[in-house]
Amino acid sequence: MASSRVVVFAFSMVLLSSVSMATDHIVGDDKGWTVDFNYTQWAQEMVFLVGDNLVFNYDPSRHNVFKVNGTQFQSCTFPPANEALSTGKDIIPLK
Ligand SMILES: *[C@@H]1O[C@H](CO)[C@@H](O)[C@H](O)[C@H]1NC(C)=O
Ligand SMILES: *[C@@H]1O[C@H](CO)[C@@H](O)[C@H](O)[C@H]1NC(C)=O
Repeated sequence: MASSRVVVFAFSMVLLSSVSMATDHIVGDDKGWTVDFNYTQWAQEMVFLVGDNLVFNYDPSRHNVFKVNGTQFQSCTFPPANEALSTGKDIIPLK
């Protein structure tokens, strides 16, 4: 009996730690998603894990967010305008 309790305890510790380790990364910190901000430098100081969220905070009358893959990013090709995220607080889970 004692050993099955230990297993249950260990299992709940794993669940707790995977939940508590998910991090919301506020892109640009308090500057948010804007121009004249070095996001390369911002990202260098971060550790991104599966299950974390990227949070884009911005003024939706001035900015938006497009999801692209590596190829599109390198070639600066972005999707049709109707695929833009534009809530001003977009949350993108890292899968
Ligand atoms: C942004 O930061 C990166 C890493 O520190 C640096 O290599 C790059 O030159 C910076 N870009 C600008 C435009 O300052
Ligand atoms: C990137 O996305 C574009 C547009 O959806 C697609 O055509 C292309 O195959 C993708 N490339 C990779 C490497 O996923």
